[in-house]
Amino acid sequence: MFRVSDLKFRYPKNKEDTIKGISFEFGEGEIFGFLGPSGAGKSTTQKIMTRILKGYRGEIKYKEKDLNSYGREFFNDVGVGFEMPVHFCKLTAMENMGFYMKLYPKHTDIQGLMKRVGLWEDRDKKVAEFSQGMKVRLNFVRAMLNSPKMLFLDEPTNGLDPKNSRIIKDIILEFKDNGGTVFLTTHLMHDADELCDRVAFIADGEVREIDSPKNLKLRYGRRIVNLEYTDEGLLKKETFDIDGLKENEHFFEILKTKEIVTIHSGETTLDDIFIKVTGVKLRE
Ligand SMILES: Nc1ncnc2c1ncn2[C@@H]1O[C@H](COP(=O)(O)OP(=O)(O)OP(=O)(O)O)[C@@H](O)[C@H]1O
Ligand SMILES: [Mg+2]
Repeated sequence: MFRVSDLKFRYPKNKEDTIKGISFEFGEGEIFGFLGPSGAGKSTTQKIMTRILKGYRGEIKYKEKDLNSYGREFFNDVGVGFEMPVHFCKLTAMENMGFYMKLYPKHTDIQGLMKRVGLWEDRDKKVAEFSQGMKVRLNFVRAMLNSPKMLFLDEPTNGLDPKNSRIIKDIILEFKDNGGTVFLTTHLMHDADELCDRVAFIADGEVREIDSPKNLKLRYGRRIVNLEYTDEGLLKKETFDIDGLKENEHFFEILKTKEIVTIHSGETTLDDIFIKVTGVKLRE
């Protein structure tokens, strides 16, 4: 669907490249996650791929053809959810959608989608009176409005409560089930793990790792057991490698002689991999 080769980009005012030669590709029907720390260049890459930012170096192919060779038909094919919801605040939600609908020959079932994301009742309210989460949901409806084949979503669940976040994720999965392709940027590793077929980790304008969440966990994973126990009234924590555990006398000593509080096997998460691959801690 998309093939990006040695992509470089510099903002006109800057001295250094923001995107420093990245390559990746994803196929039709795939949800491709684009992950990385703040300022890594994720939104910049999305803006280049959606032809908002011009003047890149390297090559981008969409459906085997150079991105620059496409005319208007490209915008009919793709739906774009921007990082910051952009709406006309003085217009109502439906007036906003009506405005954008005029730009496209083909539309999704707006009423159905507005109902699904819980905005139908508020459709005649001015967007200025919308909460942040309502604006984010309207932004998502706008991305889907032209019934796209390829969806770009920059932080689609940012600032949503768990229920609304679930609804958006379900719609994304259904879109994929119906043959749609998604380029998804998110800070939420749990969402990336659930939704993405493959993910790329990007840091400092470079791709550091690309694989499926499952393979990454296998490759970066360490099979461990976490033990919490009390020793003379003090809570202690220890981690043991599962490999070779049957020869680990210290482990059996604790089991036999101490009061065990919790015992869990540890699985590597995308959070852990994010830290290893990008060198950025998620929490202090
Ligand atoms: N219009 C601009 N002019 C100059 N520099 C910019 C511009 N927009 C972004 N940048 C810079 O480019 C770099 C990458 O920004 P980008 O928005 O792509 O990051 P991001 O990975 O999307 O981060 P976040 O996770 O915070 O959204 C940052 O250092 C940013 O300051
Ligand atoms: Mg961004």
